[in-house]
Amino acid sequence: MKIAIVGDLHLADKEYADDVSYQSRHHYINQHEYVRKQINSLNENQPDHVILLGDLIDWFSLENIDFALEVFSKLQSSWDMTIGNHDVQLPVSHRPEHNKGVTHKDADATVNICRKKALAGWADRGICVQTRKVELGQASFYFLDSALGYISEEDQLWLIENIVNSSFNIIITHVPFPFEETIKLLKENHKDCLVYSQQNLSDQFIEKVLSSVNFIFSGHVHFTANYKESDAAVHFIKNANEPISDSKDNGIFYLEV
Ligand SMILES: [Fe+2]
Repeated sequence: MKIAIVGDLHLADKEYADDVSYQSRHHYINQHEYVRKQINSLNENQPDHVILLGDLIDWFSLENIDFALEVFSKLQSSWDMTIGNHDVQLPVSHRPEHNKGVTHKDADATVNICRKKALAGWADRGICVQTRKVELGQASFYFLDSALGYISEEDQLWLIENIVNSSFNIIITHVPFPFEETIKLLKENHKDCLVYSQQNLSDQFIEKVLSSVNFIFSGHVHFTANYKESDAAVHFIKNANEPISDSKDNGIFYLEV
């Protein structure tokens, strides 16, 4: 079975183009045509299923979700996604003053209120964004909700109790795991480690992941990298909404399972 794994797309309804929140985001709003080309490229490659690594939209609004779903209606394969920070949060300029400069996990309850609204918005449109297991081909995919920079204790326990060591196991998470090599790569790419890697993972969770997982895919950091952590192949997939000149890397990774 051929699976396409796709990096962040950051789609936003053009009606937002004049909103103050998007003044620094026009490089994304102007990439819609490129994203439509990416969907044509996926259609030409005919994967059996497409997995999005989160940040499908550029800040949460029901209009942005509807816009993204309209763009994805042209995709001929089935698809699903893990959820990213941009899929559940308001633009920074729309957040309360005291939440603006803090990391996700330190923000107050207003972030969670918005998150609840966002989760309902996705669910109402038939898009499942919760932590879950999906069987595809010979592999078990574990979609983990790391949208706010961490995986909840409950979800960590769920993985520990449900993952089967002997299966072909693949983790799909928006925010990368904080392995030493991840931190090194973030520093090399001038990314703030607190924002771009997960916080609060238990030792038991990490141990379980490293003893039973074959692949870990994440988005969020907008650059491509891969390395081995114990037996797990760790892949960062770059954002799929802007081409890099002189590079064949378009933020789409094909995997046979
Ligand atoms: Fe992100």
